[in-house]
Amino acid sequence: MIKLGVNIDHVATIRQARQTTEPDPVWAAAMAELGGADQITVHLREDRRHIQDRDVRVLRDTVNVKMNLECACEPTMLDLAVKTLPDQVCLVPEKREEVTTEGGLDIVANRDRVDRAIKQLQDAGIFVSLFIDPDQSQIELSAKLGADAVELHTGTYANAKTSDERAAQLQILETAAAVVGSTKMQLHAGHGLTYTNVVPVAQIEGMLELNIGHSIVSRSVFVGMQEAVREMKRLCNL
Ligand code: PXP
Repeated sequence: MIKLGVNIDHVATIRQARQTTEPDPVWAAAMAELGGADQITVHLREDRRHIQDRDVRVLRDTVNVKMNLECACEPTMLDLAVKTLPDQVCLVPEKREEVTTEGGLDIVANRDRVDRAIKQLQDAGIFVSLFIDPDQSQIELSAKLGADAVELHTGTYANAKTSDERAAQLQILETAAAVVGSTKMQLHAGHGLTYTNVVPVAQIEGMLELNIGHSIVSRSVFVGMQEAVREMKRLCNL
């Protein structure tokens, strides 16, 4: 059974477009839970372009499934995570100028920072996932540093323009998944997954959790959050 983490950032994006109080991501989280979400995922970005500190606080008090906080490996964010105590933190890279997260966190280049962050979060009892590219050296170092899980970045697979390219990227994800399988870490994946490309990723051997945002929020505009989540959950577990 694949666990579905529903990322509700873009409900907050619509609210912030008018700097008002609606739509409320807290309401979206409740509807996502009713649709079968196993986890609510939010990314508190440094520039607060969508999710706000208030959202993280209220979600922590109201979410009944697991709460997964995506955050940069920065001291202020880590302190906030420790104060909030989500069930899981996923460490992600972050650049102010990017439209969305553009690639995995480079654990090799940021080894000491990531090492300290994992310890700080785990000492607070938080399950730590690292968002990384499907690359053997990144996976092996994640295991060595004691991460509880890795979330493989599926953006390159999702952006593939041809079926050959998509098949090649799926193969890269499958190879990476096998490396994760040889460690004690859980296997998660996410980014750019949609109703039309999710099935092969969900069916990768050992896959446990997918985090999906933009596609679910987009569909929810037309069919409602509950129905959008229900359909994605069905596809994840064909
Ligand atoms: N996983 C991680 C680590 C992310 O940063 C994001 C985007 O915030 C997602 C999953 C969800 O990506 P998408 O919105 O493309 O489904």
